[in-house]
Amino acid sequence: KDTAAPSLADGGERFSKSGFIFAAIGSAVGLGNMWKFPYITGKYGGAAFFLMFIICLLAVGLPVLMAELTIGRGGRGSVVASFSRLSKQKGWGWLGFLMILAPFLILSFYSVVAGWTMYYAVQSFTGNLFSDSDYSGKFGAFIGSWQPVWWQLLALVLTAVVILKGVSAGIEKFNKILIPGLVILLITLVIRALTLDGAGDGVSFFLNPDFSKLTPESALVALGHAFFSLSLGMGTMVTYGAYVDKRQSLGAGTLAIGLGDLLYAFLAGLIIFPTSFAFDIAPGQGPGLVFVALPAAFAAMPFGSLFGGLFFVLLAFAALTSTVGLLEVPVAFVRERFGWGRGLSVIVITLLLFLIGIPSAISVGGAVGGLQFGDKSFFDWMDFICSNILLPLGGLLITIFAGHVWKNAEDEAGLSSRWYRIWIFMVKYVAPILVVLVLLHSTGALDF
Ligand code: PHE
Repeated sequence: KDTAAPSLADGGERFSKSGFIFAAIGSAVGLGNMWKFPYITGKYGGAAFFLMFIICLLAVGLPVLMAELTIGRGGRGSVVASFSRLSKQKGWGWLGFLMILAPFLILSFYSVVAGWTMYYAVQSFTGNLFSDSDYSGKFGAFIGSWQPVWWQLLALVLTAVVILKGVSAGIEKFNKILIPGLVILLITLVIRALTLDGAGDGVSFFLNPDFSKLTPESALVALGHAFFSLSLGMGTMVTYGAYVDKRQSLGAGTLAIGLGDLLYAFLAGLIIFPTSFAFDIAPGQGPGLVFVALPAAFAAMPFGSLFGGLFFVLLAFAALTSTVGLLEVPVAFVRERFGWGRGLSVIVITLLLFLIGIPSAISVGGAVGGLQFGDKSFFDWMDFICSNILLPLGGLLITIFAGHVWKNAEDEAGLSSRWYRIWIFMVKYVAPILVVLVLLHSTGALDF
């Protein structure tokens, strides 16, 4: 029955050429680049880690990204439908279900952080954020209250509205409006950061590598982050691939998405490190960096509430262009599987997300903040299960599928024979081995 399931994209939904690139870059660029990347780069040694990230992104991330897009366009459906259609085996469809579950779970806590960014943007513009200088107290009081639940709901509703409108009037249009906005904000803030007194130390921390800081662990973290940052292993790029026109070059698209994501991470680093160093803030201090440390920096600069507000708007934009990519995955799946309309699918899934998201929203210091399962809060478990287990597992399935199971990947990929050989070698051998290492390391089975 699977193989006969109606194909989503044959229902007429299609990205335009540029729309696909905008949407995919929008998905890739997100909280990963602006919130996670800076503090892990800070923790794992700055420039040497950034260099490692670049290598992982180009050598492993891009081939896997290409594989996801190719599977999506070849299968013209969600991961489940594409896997079972292309392999003609139902079992692969079931494995693909992992990659429907992952974005659903990710969205349930990613939208919590997206909500924080919107709250912080408002607090910054109104100047409330800077009324006294106890930024960690303020952050603690906010995440300790019920307010994050409502801000999360706002993030989910905005995402749902975009997805309700469909592929070209929703996802494509939204990204085409937000991404240019993002670029303008980004450049404004880079200029502001680089002209601060003492910015130079931050730039050299970020760009002047000290190779003694490279460890096997930092290399694996860099690879894991390259996956997260390119939205891999989570069905998003497969689903977006299903809406890509047959005449579009997937190779060129992959390159544009990868370079776009990299450029964004580079510019985000040029904002965060110079700012942190100029105000004596340790960049490796963890997830609170942008919410606790940077407000102190904004408070100390002229027009700080304006620049702070713009910074959090930038973060919110980046987050929302990613949440739409996450929501489209389960929506595409239920439409395909149950034949529901887009409207019904979006409403049901958003409600479920809201319910599952509540424990995440109130477990970072909130009403159930003290409730730990083992050594982690609910929020941390969600992040851990998704980022460290489901995502590498998804990436592994993708490489096995494109490299060893599906026989016609070459035709769909449309690469020159030389590039095809390089690509398929990476997908068949290099990527799966490295991904298994990441998986073993992040589950603690492999310790350095
Ligand atoms: N790539 C996004 C980021 O860096 C996160 C994401 C992962 C979005 C998977 C969609 C799918 O924030």
